[in-house]
Amino acid sequence: MNSQIYQLPQEFVHRLKKIYPSRFNEIFATFRQKKITSFRINYLKTDLVSLTRQLKEANVRFKELSFPAGSFLLKGSLRDFQNTDVYRKGLVYVQNVSSMIPAIILDPQNNERILDLCAAPGAKTTQMASLAPQAKIIAVDKVRKRYYKLLANLRAQGVGNVEVLLLDGIWVRKKFPEYFDKILVDAPCSVEGTFYLPNKHSYKYWKPRKVKEMVRTQKKLLHSSFFALREEGTLIYSTCTFSPEENEEVIDWFIGKFKDKVELLPIDIPLDNVTSGLARWKNRKFSSPCRLCKRIIPNDFMEGFFIAKIKKVSV
Ligand SMILES: C[S@@+](CC[C@H](N)C(=O)[O-])C[C@H]1O[C@@H](n2cnc3c(N)ncnc32)[C@H](O)[C@@H]1O
Repeated sequence: MNSQIYQLPQEFVHRLKKIYPSRFNEIFATFRQKKITSFRINYLKTDLVSLTRQLKEANVRFKELSFPAGSFLLKGSLRDFQNTDVYRKGLVYVQNVSSMIPAIILDPQNNERILDLCAAPGAKTTQMASLAPQAKIIAVDKVRKRYYKLLANLRAQGVGNVEVLLLDGIWVRKKFPEYFDKILVDAPCSVEGTFYLPNKHSYKYWKPRKVKEMVRTQKKLLHSSFFALREEGTLIYSTCTFSPEENEEVIDWFIGKFKDKVELLPIDIPLDNVTSGLARWKNRKFSSPCRLCKRIIPNDFMEGFFIAKIKKVSV
């Protein structure tokens, strides 16, 4: 076990032990396993009854999950799945189950204006469009290559209600003042929740400096989002990382900055592998609402994730 631990940056391992003292071994074990592939329905092209029928007809082995509705574990090979008509026609989208949850919590509705601020390659944009095909969704990403990937995914999934902008998210405060009912900030992060030991690329760029750099971007994006959100609007902040600096600390900073103007809301995720936000990290005690945030503990099919739900109570 030790030789494998040392493949991961030692400081990361040390920090993880501190974040999850009683669950470290369980979490570390998940870094060794390849995650079971999961996928979800694309309601724009099919419904649950016909999808399950078509999956069976295509001899796809799968298990339907009770949460989120319309999500499945793939029991066979991904390559075979990608060769089926179900996949080729875009009736499904391959997506980690943890990554499906922020959009479920945001709960997009047809009459709403929704901003997906860090949208590419579009797993959550296509998910929101599938759930609310009449919503007005604006998807923003600042990286050109990823922006094109987002466009391609929207096309493949048959999405028609999304406007895509190649833009730094810091500008939405100027471009869309108090415009959106709902905003998803699926922030760029240090991706610790997706580390996989046999794939060095998944963790070789991790550095404490990278965590700090991410925090700066995350704060800028949240700050900009506050001004683009209308009064009474809701915002979901999510990351696929464990680092408290990028999670509770960013949220604590945000609710401290906009004091009486925002409040954290409770989040209900009906799964066993979910814990409350941390109460403290190192010498710092977070304000008590931070406990309302949720941490998803990785398992054999779910990545580590962090989710916060915020309401703008006044401008
Ligand atoms: C975690 S990924 C988003 C994944 C996406 N939400 C999905 O579910 O497919 C973060 C994204 O933020 C984008 N990004 C980074 N900095 C940004 C910024 N300043 N403004 C807008 N997008 C940014 C990155 O290009 C990256 O595509």
